[in-house]
Amino acid sequence: MTTPFRFTLAATDGRARTGTITTPRGEIRTPAFMPVGTAATVKAMLPDSVRATGADILLGNTYHLMLRPTAERIARLGGLHRFMNWDRPILTDSGGFQVMSLAGLRKLTEEGVRFSSHVDGSKHMLTPERSMEIQRLLGSDIVMCFDECPALPADEATVAKSMRLSMRWAERSKAAFGDRPGHALFGIQQGGVTPELRAESAEALQRIGFDGYAVGGLAVGEGQEAMFGVLDYSPDMLPADKPRYLMGVGKPDDIVGAVERGIDMMDCVLPSRSGRTGQAWTRRGQVNIKNARHQDDPRPLDEGCTCPACRSYSRAYLHHVFKAGEIISSMLMTWHNLHYYQELMAGLRGAIAAGRLSAFVAEFHAMRAEGDI
Ligand code: GUN
Ligand code: ZN
Repeated sequence: MTTPFRFTLAATDGRARTGTITTPRGEIRTPAFMPVGTAATVKAMLPDSVRATGADILLGNTYHLMLRPTAERIARLGGLHRFMNWDRPILTDSGGFQVMSLAGLRKLTEEGVRFSSHVDGSKHMLTPERSMEIQRLLGSDIVMCFDECPALPADEATVAKSMRLSMRWAERSKAAFGDRPGHALFGIQQGGVTPELRAESAEALQRIGFDGYAVGGLAVGEGQEAMFGVLDYSPDMLPADKPRYLMGVGKPDDIVGAVERGIDMMDCVLPSRSGRTGQAWTRRGQVNIKNARHQDDPRPLDEGCTCPACRSYSRAYLHHVFKAGEIISSMLMTWHNLHYYQELMAGLRGAIAAGRLSAFVAEFHAMRAEGDI
């Protein structure tokens, strides 16, 4: 008998929640941060190392994998988990969002979106049905509905029209997904920064019925204040007994604010991508390792961090290998950033469980206010 997909809440503190998502491939402790493994790799990290940072689940991308190496090839090779050597849960995004930001020529219709590949210019079509098929071929544990997300600011009529299209696509996604025990399908709420549209979207999704609900259409240029404005009401429009996933967020302070507002899952390229460009995230805020002030500094990036970069290397070394363009720079900086993100999530989970989230958040902001010393 397959382990069913299940979400169990363990504790709440204000609107924040902590719990466990159970899947046949293992448990996901929530609130969870999902490192991004777009092209079947978390760049600069081996899967065992990603696991060592504390990650329970990775995110993969329909858009990138369908173009290269193709979903059919991955399926022939035993699925995405085996292909990339990660045997724990994988959530895959559905492709529409990436088409809009990455593809060349695009044509959006009721049927789906036709686009040309950013890799080689070849022509492709994504529809809710094709997205479900690709995510099934990959062997994704948590499948996302095929949706469309307008960049903000956009006028309300544009946002409403786009949201209603996404809701029709959500219905088609559910029908195409079918009944797949042990696998989950998440709906994606859209509606921009308009409460009435967010409510309409939440109702449409719940009528269809999903295993989890994402808040989409945020972190697309609206700024933190507007995003928190939406998160002040939108998670409460979604069922309390299902996971709530905020897509594409964010910076550490975005994550803390989202968790305070009832979000259970998040993903972002930030810790891995910024690691490769020399940005470190620490308890005292952001550190730019490129800065010449680090070149003679024997101290670690973060005195309190137990990651391999901080345990064994000085800021002077990290500065040097970045300047020299050495591959180990990306490896160490990414490891540190993912370790910091996962430690933050563990801290949030512990604080919610202990009913001391506000003290934890106050300490989080106080440490950052002191700055890098
Ligand atoms: N990633 C970040 N935001 C979104 C969104 O609104 N939809 C999808 N599918 N992916 C996202
Ligand atoms: Zn570290």
